[in-house]
Amino acid sequence: MKIAVRYYTKTGNTKKLADEIARTVGVEAKTVDEKLSGDVDILFLGSSVYAAGVDEQVKKFIEDMDGSVGKIVNFSTAAILKSTYSQIKKIAGKMGIEVSDREYHCKGSFGFMHRGKPNAQDLKEASKFAKSFL
Ligand SMILES: Cc1cc2nc3c(=O)[nH]c(=O)nc-3n(C[C@H](O)[C@H](O)[C@H](O)COP(=O)(O)O)c2cc1C
Repeated sequence: MKIAVRYYTKTGNTKKLADEIARTVGVEAKTVDEKLSGDVDILFLGSSVYAAGVDEQVKKFIEDMDGSVGKIVNFSTAAILKSTYSQIKKIAGKMGIEVSDREYHCKGSFGFMHRGKPNAQDLKEASKFAKSFL
Protein backbone atom coordinates (compact mmCIF):
# COMPACT_ATOMS: atom_id res chain seq x y z
CA MET A 1 0.00 0.00 0.00
CA LYS A 2 1.45 3.37 -1.01
CA ILE A 3 0.90 6.17 1.46
CA ALA A 4 1.83 9.86 1.33
CA VAL A 5 1.51 12.65 3.88
CA ARG A 6 1.17 16.29 2.85
CA TYR A 7 0.26 19.30 4.93
CA TYR A 8 -0.02 23.05 4.97
CA THR A 9 0.87 25.03 8.06
CA LYS A 10 1.28 28.69 8.93
CA THR A 11 2.21 28.43 12.61
CA GLY A 12 3.37 24.80 13.01
CA ASN A 13 0.31 23.19 14.61
CA THR A 14 -0.74 21.04 11.67
CA LYS A 15 2.89 20.11 11.05
CA LYS A 16 2.94 18.45 14.48
CA LEU A 17 0.07 16.16 13.46
CA ALA A 18 1.62 15.57 10.02
CA ASP A 19 4.96 14.51 11.50
CA GLU A 20 3.28 12.15 13.96
CA ILE A 21 1.04 10.58 11.29
CA ALA A 22 4.00 10.23 8.92
CA ARG A 23 6.13 8.60 11.62
CA THR A 24 3.30 6.17 12.33
CA VAL A 25 2.83 5.12 8.72
CA GLY A 26 6.56 5.13 7.92
CA VAL A 27 6.86 7.93 5.38
CA GLU A 28 8.10 11.51 5.40
CA ALA A 29 5.65 14.36 5.89
CA LYS A 30 6.02 16.95 3.16
CA THR A 31 4.38 20.31 2.66
CA VAL A 32 1.85 20.92 -0.11
CA ASP A 33 4.63 22.78 -1.93
CA GLU A 34 5.77 19.36 -3.01
CA LYS A 35 3.52 18.21 -5.80
CA LEU A 36 2.09 14.70 -5.58
CA SER A 37 3.01 12.68 -8.64
CA GLY A 38 2.38 9.02 -9.21
CA ASP A 39 -0.28 6.81 -7.71
CA VAL A 40 -0.98 6.56 -4.01
CA ASP A 41 -3.57 4.51 -2.15
CA ILE A 42 -3.91 6.86 0.78
CA LEU A 43 -3.03 10.52 0.99
CA PHE A 44 -3.13 11.91 4.51
CA LEU A 45 -3.75 15.60 3.92
CA GLY A 46 -3.40 18.13 6.73
CA SER A 47 -4.83 21.63 6.69
CA SER A 48 -6.18 24.38 8.85
CA VAL A 49 -8.46 27.39 8.64
CA TYR A 50 -7.50 31.02 8.36
CA ALA A 51 -10.43 33.40 8.38
CA ALA A 52 -12.74 30.42 7.94
CA GLY A 53 -11.09 29.02 4.80
CA VAL A 54 -8.33 26.57 3.95
CA ASP A 55 -5.32 28.22 2.35
CA GLU A 56 -5.31 28.61 -1.45
CA GLN A 57 -2.14 26.52 -1.58
CA VAL A 58 -4.06 23.49 -0.31
CA LYS A 59 -6.64 23.96 -3.01
CA LYS A 60 -3.93 24.33 -5.65
CA PHE A 61 -2.14 21.23 -4.38
CA ILE A 62 -5.30 19.10 -4.80
CA GLU A 63 -6.04 20.55 -8.22
CA ASP A 64 -2.47 20.01 -9.44
CA MET A 65 -2.12 16.36 -8.41
CA ASP A 66 -1.33 13.97 -11.21
CA GLY A 67 -1.59 10.24 -10.83
CA SER A 68 -4.42 8.56 -9.01
CA VAL A 69 -5.26 8.87 -5.35
CA GLY A 70 -7.26 6.03 -3.79
CA LYS A 71 -8.56 8.32 -1.10
CA ILE A 72 -7.69 11.40 0.87
CA VAL A 73 -7.73 11.12 4.64
CA ASN A 74 -8.26 14.55 6.13
CA PHE A 75 -6.61 15.83 9.29
CA SER A 76 -6.73 19.34 10.62
CA THR A 77 -6.27 21.80 13.45
CA ALA A 78 -8.22 24.99 14.11
CA ALA A 79 -8.94 27.35 16.98
CA ILE A 80 -12.72 27.37 16.62
CA LEU A 81 -13.89 25.59 13.49
CA LYS A 82 -14.60 21.89 14.01
CA SER A 83 -12.65 20.68 11.00
CA THR A 84 -11.61 21.42 7.43
CA TYR A 85 -13.34 18.26 6.26
CA SER A 86 -16.23 19.81 4.33
CA GLN A 87 -13.93 22.23 2.51
CA ILE A 88 -11.47 19.52 1.52
CA LYS A 89 -14.30 17.22 0.46
CA LYS A 90 -15.72 19.91 -1.77
CA ILE A 91 -12.39 20.64 -3.49
CA ALA A 92 -11.51 16.94 -3.85
CA GLY A 93 -15.03 16.14 -5.04
CA LYS A 94 -14.60 18.48 -8.00
CA MET A 95 -11.52 16.48 -8.95
CA GLY A 96 -13.33 13.17 -8.51
CA ILE A 97 -11.20 12.15 -5.55
CA GLU A 98 -12.74 10.21 -2.69
CA VAL A 99 -12.34 11.54 0.84
CA SER A 100 -12.56 9.06 3.69
CA ASP A 101 -15.46 9.81 6.01
CA ARG A 102 -13.08 9.23 8.92
CA GLU A 103 -10.90 12.19 9.84
CA TYR A 104 -8.73 13.47 12.66
CA HIS A 105 -9.18 16.95 14.03
CA CYS A 106 -7.99 18.69 17.19
CA LYS A 107 -7.70 22.23 18.48
CA GLY A 108 -4.65 24.25 17.46
CA SER A 109 -3.14 27.03 19.53
CA PHE A 110 -3.95 30.56 18.40
CA GLY A 111 -2.75 33.49 20.47
CA PHE A 112 -3.94 32.86 24.01
CA MET A 113 -6.35 30.14 22.91
CA HIS A 114 -5.56 26.45 23.35
CA ARG A 115 -2.00 26.87 24.53
CA GLY A 116 0.21 23.89 23.72
CA LYS A 117 -2.28 22.30 21.32
CA PRO A 118 -1.86 19.90 19.65
CA ASN A 119 -0.44 18.35 22.83
CA ALA A 120 1.03 14.92 23.56
CA GLN A 121 -2.42 13.37 23.96
CA ASP A 122 -3.56 14.79 20.61
CA LEU A 123 -0.49 13.31 18.93
CA LYS A 124 -1.16 9.95 20.54
CA GLU A 125 -4.71 9.99 19.19
CA ALA A 126 -3.51 11.10 15.74
CA SER A 127 -1.07 8.20 15.69
CA LYS A 128 -3.80 5.74 16.69
CA PHE A 129 -6.01 7.17 13.97
CA ALA A 130 -3.29 6.78 11.31
CA LYS A 131 -2.55 3.22 12.44
CA SER A 132 -6.18 2.25 11.89
CA PHE A 133 -5.67 2.68 8.12
CA LEU A 134 -2.73 0.27 7.90
C1 LIG B 1 -4.38 34.37 10.08
C2 LIG B 1 -5.13 33.34 10.90
C3 LIG B 1 -6.52 33.25 10.79
C4 LIG B 1 -7.22 32.28 11.53
N1 LIG B 1 -8.60 32.17 11.39
C5 LIG B 1 -9.26 31.17 12.04
C6 LIG B 1 -10.66 30.98 11.83
O1 LIG B 1 -11.31 31.67 11.07
N2 LIG B 1 -11.27 29.96 12.51
C7 LIG B 1 -10.59 29.14 13.36
O2 LIG B 1 -11.19 28.21 13.90
N3 LIG B 1 -9.26 29.31 13.58
C8 LIG B 1 -8.58 30.30 12.94
N4 LIG B 1 -7.22 30.47 13.14
C9 LIG B 1 -6.53 29.58 14.05
C10 LIG B 1 -5.84 28.44 13.32
O3 LIG B 1 -6.77 27.68 12.56
C11 LIG B 1 -5.14 27.52 14.32
O4 LIG B 1 -4.22 28.25 15.06
C12 LIG B 1 -4.47 26.37 13.58
O5 LIG B 1 -4.08 25.38 14.50
C13 LIG B 1 -3.28 26.88 12.81
O6 LIG B 1 -2.68 25.79 12.17
P1 LIG B 1 -1.18 25.89 11.66
O7 LIG B 1 -0.32 26.20 12.87
O8 LIG B 1 -0.89 24.53 11.12
O9 LIG B 1 -1.12 26.96 10.64
C14 LIG B 1 -6.52 31.42 12.43
C15 LIG B 1 -5.12 31.53 12.53
C16 LIG B 1 -4.43 32.46 11.78
C17 LIG B 1 -2.92 32.54 11.92
